Amino acid sequence: MRIVSIVGARPQFVKAAPVSRALRARHEEILVHSGQHYDQEMSGVFFDELQIPRPDYNLAVGSGSHGRQTGEMLGLIEDLLLELKPDAVLVYGDTNTTLAGGLAAAKLGIPVIHVEAGLRSFNRAMPEEINRVLVDHLADLLLCPTPAAVDHLAAEGITRGVELVGDVMLDATRWISERIDARPTLERLGLRTGEYFLATVHRAATSDSPRQLEAVIRAFSRVDKPVVWALHPRTDKNIDTHGLRALLEAADNIIAVPPLSYTETAGLLKNAAGLLTDSGGMQKEAYFYGVSCVTLREETEWVETVELGWNRLVGTDEDSIVEAARDLVRPAVHPDVYGDGHAADAIVHMIERRYAD
Ligand code: UD1
Repeated sequence: MRIVSIVGARPQFVKAAPVSRALRARHEEILVHSGQHYDQEMSGVFFDELQIPRPDYNLAVGSGSHGRQTGEMLGLIEDLLLELKPDAVLVYGDTNTTLAGGLAAAKLGIPVIHVEAGLRSFNRAMPEEINRVLVDHLADLLLCPTPAAVDHLAAEGITRGVELVGDVMLDATRWISERIDARPTLERLGLRTGEYFLATVHRAATSDSPRQLEAVIRAFSRVDKPVVWALHPRTDKNIDTHGLRALLEAADNIIAVPPLSYTETAGLLKNAAGLLTDSGGMQKEAYFYGVSCVTLREETEWVETVELGWNRLVGTDEDSIVEAARDLVRPAVHPDVYGDGHAADAIVHMIERRYAD
């Protein structure tokens, strides 16, 4: 089969790594990078570390408003699909790249395969929620990481082409776990295992709001351990735009660093006392490493982590963040709710089953 896989943003590179490896063992894969993320530290380093093949095409769309960015990708992807004539198009997750890829393919009558289908936050103010709902309704093969995702699709009337395959991020975590040496990063940042928090903040809802971003900085500064904060470019810019740089720099315990590579992030996460984040995927990565998580959001797509006690949703209230970090719990139970770490093989198997002819 000829499959065109479309990626564009940081978490999609992580998900594509295991799937690409499994797919290329038996099929032709053409990898398209939309260019949504373009900095070396947001993109190139992931391809290097995860040993992802170089993209065959880079559409270099760059940053922009949602409509402009998505629209530009849509046209470029359509042109490419007309030329490449794939048997199916594979998209990941919930970014603007996912929507553009899914929509371009569906309009051309090319089957859309959606990896990480069925996730819902039930918060339509999130651009990602709009993207994932739309792509699920366009998709022909919906590959779900959890039974809850299968249930969400059923509740929206989608039952055909739905398969439970487990979570590909677990495949990626297993792969990188064997290759991590966190010592150089811990030494460089002056950290000791289990005695610091790792933090990431990038959601528009958190970082575009001066009030919320200030509350987050104030909360991190009151946490009783060092907080390594890997600053996403959006957040870094907003710290200046909102006039919060001095507040950040005054906090002795916050170690603000540029975006970290996948290996560095994995090493720091694995050895952290806890994770403070508004990311989706990292809540789950914390769970994979047996690290407790405090989520700076009101809702999550990864409800299992909360139900099992490994994750607390605290929003962006300053005191709630500080209290959750102080009262961190480490539950005794840690079941394999995200599959067995072989989701990529299951994905290829499901693709072959659906499109055998
Ligand atoms: C996007 C995804 C989000 C995902 C995240 C992972 C959407 C709607 N959102 O959010 O679901 O969790 O990626 O990181 O698709 N920028 C740079 N360099 C880069 C990329 C971005 O400086 O290489 C800056 C630009 O100022 C840009 C801003 O970051 O405007 C936001 O980038 P964008 O791709 O629009 O969204 P993310 O916040 O990264």
